[in-house]
Amino acid sequence: MRDAQRTGAGGAMAEEPAAPAHDTRESARLREALVQKLSHEATLRDPRITAALRAVPRHVFVPEASVEHSYQDTVVPVKYADDELLSTLSQPSAIVVMLEQLQVGEGMRVLEVGTGTGYNAALLAELVGPHGRVTTVDIDEDLTRRAREALRSVGYAAVNVHTGDGFDGAADGAPYDRIELSAATPVISPAWTEQLVDGGLLVGPINVKGLPFLTPAFRKHGTRLVAESMRACSFLSLRGSAAAAGATFRLPVRPKLRFVWESPDEFPAGVLTRVFRQKRQVRDEVPIAWGAAAYVLLTNADAFVTEAGDGRVRGISLLDRKSESLASIMTSSDGWGTAGVVVYGGNGAHTRLAASIDEWAKRGRPAVEALQLTAVPAPGPERLGPGEYLVRKPYYDLIASYDTPR
Ligand SMILES: C[S@@+](CC[C@H](N)C(=O)[O-])C[C@H]1O[C@@H](n2cnc3c(N)ncnc32)[C@H](O)[C@@H]1O
Repeated sequence: MRDAQRTGAGGAMAEEPAAPAHDTRESARLREALVQKLSHEATLRDPRITAALRAVPRHVFVPEASVEHSYQDTVVPVKYADDELLSTLSQPSAIVVMLEQLQVGEGMRVLEVGTGTGYNAALLAELVGPHGRVTTVDIDEDLTRRAREALRSVGYAAVNVHTGDGFDGAADGAPYDRIELSAATPVISPAWTEQLVDGGLLVGPINVKGLPFLTPAFRKHGTRLVAESMRACSFLSLRGSAAAAGATFRLPVRPKLRFVWESPDEFPAGVLTRVFRQKRQVRDEVPIAWGAAAYVLLTNADAFVTEAGDGRVRGISLLDRKSESLASIMTSSDGWGTAGVVVYGGNGAHTRLAASIDEWAKRGRPAVEALQLTAVPAPGPERLGPGEYLVRKPYYDLIASYDTPR
């Protein structure tokens, strides 16, 4: 999709095309520097995405930030309510990773959930070209209004910007060849799978047992979705129906915590209450890789995440029902496990936790990218194949495996 302002402004005889009104030599230079940086880091490999990144003037979408800031590889905060961050312009490297997973071709119909500033929608418009169609939806009207204006100002007026809860998709533009979630979700919405063509891709961060960064590219095969690639990206969470659908529990004995429980068994409120009344001990820190954190959670049915009131992950916990003990790897902004291990009850859970991390090391320290995920309509199968683990969720269960896909 070419922009008349950009292509029309340069005279045929000029040595260098003149910069369009919204662009200056400085913004063009900073944009190119960002492209070079992402290319050198090998984040940016696809020439079509490179061309899109060069074409879209990112700074126009975040007038609140300096031009320098808008071209750094960082998140730009866009909207707060009280102290809560409601919208951001995502980090360029995370945007590129997801666009690579999305494999957008010319002429495709694409839905984005989470318009924000409209910048990513402009990149999608570049990728689908003049014969494709981009629909994007955000839950906040002030954001869609501003995104529409920014898109129009730089030549992407053809993007359909809707206001609504993206959990319902956008039926108007359906069916879609690609659906991209620009915010994290605890559940897969049935509307997304209905509005996606068979063989289409759904890409976005899915919270799996409370882990906030797993980003699969799901290919739709009839009623199931099979992940073709898995990356790690950190995004804001969806508000609205998706947030309400997540399986979190509370316990009076720990009123400030939310427990994300997505195991096949019932939430063990009774055992946990007894365990939390036992003596609390703090053991040494065990800094662990993201891959290990995911492994412990997914391969142990009695493993779960605890979140603080603000939604931050506080710890990854393992319950040992037999010894009525619990071990929690506490996290901090320095990484997983950097805040020590908290133990309640005897050593049972702590020993199992250490054994699970050892097992991860013995299996070759699989990174999150090695994880296979398949989503099946809930309730999923009662019986699983060897090496498979079930994550129970509303609408779609997940079958996780570190071996070959089913
Ligand atoms: C990380 S920002 C998206 C950044 C955006 N793609 C861009 O290029 O600027 C996530 C966005 O999701 C929106 N959002 C949150 N919950 C939503 C929902 N249920 N439906 C649609 N959008 C939602 C937020 O308002 C926020 O603007």
